[in-house]
Amino acid sequence: MKRGWMRFLLALGTFYVGGAALAADGQALYQTYCAACHQAGGQGVPGTYPFLDGPIGRLSSLPEGREFLAATVLFGLKGPMVQRGVAYDGAMPGFAGALSDEEVATLLNWLKAQWKNPALGAGAPDYTPQEVEKVRKLALTPEGVFQKLQALEAILHGKAPGGGREGCGSPGGRGRGGPGR
Ligand code: HEC
Repeated sequence: MKRGWMRFLLALGTFYVGGAALAADGQALYQTYCAACHQAGGQGVPGTYPFLDGPIGRLSSLPEGREFLAATVLFGLKGPMVQRGVAYDGAMPGFAGALSDEEVATLLNWLKAQWKNPALGAGAPDYTPQEVEKVRKLALTPEGVFQKLQALEAILHGKAPGGGREGCGSPGGRGRGGPGR
């Protein structure tokens, strides 16, 4: 009897520690690989580094959005874009060499639960290493990832005309071209 309890408690302990370690990993990966540019709170630097504190939850509920996010982390991104009326034309390096499929999945899962409106990503399934592996096989260039972003924006604009200005995909907030797109 007593032994049974002991085992139960030990198992609980392991479960708890395991869960905490997993959550911490995503955060640690973010701090190491992303925060220098996108900032600790994901707010970015207007005009230089786009914010991440809104788009990730929303994009995670679209297959094209998930592919774009995984591709951006793996291959980088280069091309002119507008976020909430602020233009960006920088280049992000890819991390395909530094991060395993599992690490990319852990990082994206942590990101979609962070910051503003985590509820946007609440219905989105977790990223899996298998999903990341598929994207890795696309072997894109940063410009190629930018093309994915343009295709994604066309989808989002078509789906949500007049939608919010939360970030990626909002007609007022994103896209090539002038204000109002
Ligand atoms: C050296 C600076 C730098 C680092 C490090 C960096 N990024 Fe970026 N990131 C950028 C820049 C610059 C852009 C915009 C590129 C452009 O203008 O085409 C960007 C764009 C993005 C976008 C697209 C945003 C949108 O709204 O479409 C995502 C998502 C993103 N980064 C995620 C990450 C993640 C996750 C990490 C960590 C693995 C990371 N970035 C690391 C500089 C960086």
